[in-house]
Amino acid sequence: MSVNTVGVLGCGLMGSGIAQVSASAGFKTYVLEVNDSALQKGMGRIEKFLADGVAKGKLSAQGRDTTIGHLVGTTRYADLEACELIIEAIIENVEEKKKAYAQVEAVVGADCLIATNTSSLSVTELAAGTKRPSQFGGLHFFNPVPLMKLVEVVKALTTSAQTHEALVDYARAIGKEPIAAPDRGGFIVNRLLVPYLLDAIRCLDEGLGTVEDIDKGMKLGCGYPMGPFTLLDFVGLDTTYFIANILFDEFRETRFAPPPLLKRMVLAGHLGKKSGKGFYEYSR
Ligand code: 3HC
Repeated sequence: MSVNTVGVLGCGLMGSGIAQVSASAGFKTYVLEVNDSALQKGMGRIEKFLADGVAKGKLSAQGRDTTIGHLVGTTRYADLEACELIIEAIIENVEEKKKAYAQVEAVVGADCLIATNTSSLSVTELAAGTKRPSQFGGLHFFNPVPLMKLVEVVKALTTSAQTHEALVDYARAIGKEPIAAPDRGGFIVNRLLVPYLLDAIRCLDEGLGTVEDIDKGMKLGCGYPMGPFTLLDFVGLDTTYFIANILFDEFRETRFAPPPLLKRMVLAGHLGKKSGKGFYEYSR
């Protein structure tokens, strides 16, 4: 089926980015939040990114207005009625996601596809929590969504070839590069990225180098855009800890086991950029 109207569940960091790129590509995009203040915060993030884009000369004022014109913020599931694709980007909790899918399925048409942006939960388990497991798949975006080119298109055990193709087409239509990923913990990118980040923490704990030197080593020695500690702070230590635990549960391999220092930092509330302190300090 062809997709013209998209609904995004959640207008947090990922949801707002997904809604933005969808609207920029010309899709009528509804973005849903649980309450007005969360919605205003998310819409404000989109407006700021677009305004910065205009200020940097990356986007015309007309392009900004067209994107805003394609976006509708809402707190009512009923407004998603006309959507042909729903992309869920809410809290990483299976029960909460299933509740959201039930509310979606009460209003959308029988052909509507549902995709989850989960980074680590089983897409097959989430698909099984809907009445349309063959019309369900994963669209895993990367932070910051408007700047990162990749989308992992994840096939659950039940995803039909037609659904997978439609999700690949959508990813291309919004200007992203899709790669096909299996429904295995961490898909492709986090399966490789997370052990690397955890290893950097182990190296720090063993006194291999300072935070700054390890970051500089990987940035300048390997050409990575960010060193591992800058990236950990950027992604969020709590998010990394959550994903590592899921990967460890899935594979039972020590490379996925969260190091004690990561656990202690999360317990201390040192979550990275979002809390003002992680491996670095941030002025808020
Ligand atoms: N509108 C339009 N363009 C903009 C923009 C805006 N508001 N803000 C920035 N840009 C453009 C810039 O003009 C620049 O374009 P250019 O390359 O043509 O000059 C480009 O975007 C980069 O922007 P900046 O120069 O401001 O910033 P940096 O060069 O420092 O790059 C970054 C920032 C893209 C975040 C880079 O540091 C990076 O790639 N970091 C790694 C991020 C990463 O690894 N993300 C994945 C995390 S893992 C994940 O998300 C998975 C999850 O499951 C955990």
